[in-house]
Amino acid sequence: MYNTWEELEEAIKGCRGCKLYTNRTNIVFGTGNREADLMFIGEGPGADEDRLGEPFVGKAGQLMNEAFLALGIDRKEVYIANIVKCRPPSNRNPEDDEASVCINYLRNQVILVKPKIIVLLGSVALKNILGKEYGITDTRGKWIEKKGIKYMPTFHPAALLRDDSKKIFFWKDLKEVKKAME
Ligand code: URA
Repeated sequence: MYNTWEELEEAIKGCRGCKLYTNRTNIVFGTGNREADLMFIGEGPGADEDRLGEPFVGKAGQLMNEAFLALGIDRKEVYIANIVKCRPPSNRNPEDDEASVCINYLRNQVILVKPKIIVLLGSVALKNILGKEYGITDTRGKWIEKKGIKYMPTFHPAALLRDDSKKIFFWKDLKEVKKAME
């Protein structure tokens, strides 16, 4: 556990805790308001994120930004991070050994941010944070409270790019989050 953001970021920059460090251009640490009440957790960096060192700046991120704009969620006012900080090759899912090492950094981020609400974007975030027994299709849209934090699982924005019919659910879930924030 690191008590400062600077120490935590330095630790991740030097991390060789799994094989993903060998491919990274940049670590993707996290972005936004470090004192946010609302946090979003994705899966891991894609090519654009690896290049720019910021989460959700590619196509999936643009879709998320559109939803934010429409719903009145200010991207700068929330905190956004991923389960793994280095890009998995060919955008594959992070493997269990990779996620289990890296999630300690994310837990550290959650402790520092102290969010009231966390949106879990997709199955990888859901299973790694709340448990393997959860499935995204059944769980999305339902609040789950654990240790004083309210979790809202929803589809990953990349899933919306593949399947248009999921968009309405993503928007519905974020609307619910927005309502809870007010
Ligand atoms: N997908 C994710 O899960 N995270 C990102 O940062 C970008 C795409």
